[in-house]
Amino acid sequence: MLAPLAGKFAAVTGAGSGIGFAIASRFAREGARVLLLGRDESRLQQALERIKNESHESKGIAHSIFPHDVRELQSWTDLIANHPDIDVLVNCAGVTQSSLLVRTSPSTVEDILATNLHGAIWGCKVIGRAMIRRRQGGCIINVSSLLAAKSATGTAVYSASKAGLIGLTTSLAQEYGVLHGIRVNAILPGYISTNMTRSLEEEALIKKIPARRFGTPDEVADAAAFLVKNQYANNCKINLDGGLSAT
Ligand SMILES: NC(=O)c1ccc[n+]([C@@H]2O[C@H](COP(=O)([O-])OP(=O)(O)OC[C@H]3O[C@@H](n4cnc5c(N)ncnc54)[C@H](OP(=O)(O)O)[C@@H]3O)[C@@H](O)[C@H]2O)c1
Repeated sequence: MLAPLAGKFAAVTGAGSGIGFAIASRFAREGARVLLLGRDESRLQQALERIKNESHESKGIAHSIFPHDVRELQSWTDLIANHPDIDVLVNCAGVTQSSLLVRTSPSTVEDILATNLHGAIWGCKVIGRAMIRRRQGGCIINVSSLLAAKSATGTAVYSASKAGLIGLTTSLAQEYGVLHGIRVNAILPGYISTNMTRSLEEEALIKKIPARRFGTPDEVADAAAFLVKNQYANNCKINLDGGLSAT
């Protein structure tokens, strides 16, 4: 039987670790050719080897890496010059925040917005333009956060960046969807066990989560695979937070 994502070429930012790695790995297991993006080349290379070794479906498929900084528009134009045929883009790269706004330095504010929000905007613009030119549709997934909609202390800039991704997703679902058949969707994870949440007080936090645990990167990857496969999913925003958004 043909693997569900056979023939797809999927680029994933932040693919060297955590949720981005899990998404790239899941796509590869479902038959896609994957392009792993991130700043740390050796980490990307290790992630690529893991994917090749763990996925039988990867035999004969030329997965690759591309060192890339989402904050730099030039990095995106270099990427598309080398890989003009991307038909799935996952904007997953991100940095977090743990500081009251009044104590957050201007450079930190700029870095969070440049990475989490501008990075995804550049990706949607540059890769979206290439998808439009190819006239074969496409799928973009923005990894937002529960914190786009729910309050927390010490995350104001992060929350603003992730709320921005929701606006970006809604606008482009219409702008790209109507004329070009490019679907744009978002995932809003709650607490997921990755490097990003390692320093949090998990025991205290899980008491507030109806599922009584953090999610796994694979559970987020499940949602990403669904969004690529389901052709009716456009402007779909998936809460994946163990029920925390309902509390
Ligand atoms: N874990 C959670 O609970 C949670 C919840 C909601 C949303 N999220 C979102 O999920 C996404 C993935 O996070 P994660 O939990 O998997 O954490 P992670 O393991 O720290 O992954 C973050 C990734 O972003 C990449 N990155 C950071 N800055 C970059 C830049 N300027 N250019 C390119 N890549 C950059 C990092 O790679 P390099 O350093 O190698 O570049 C890293 O692979 C983030 O957008 C995060 O906000 C996470």
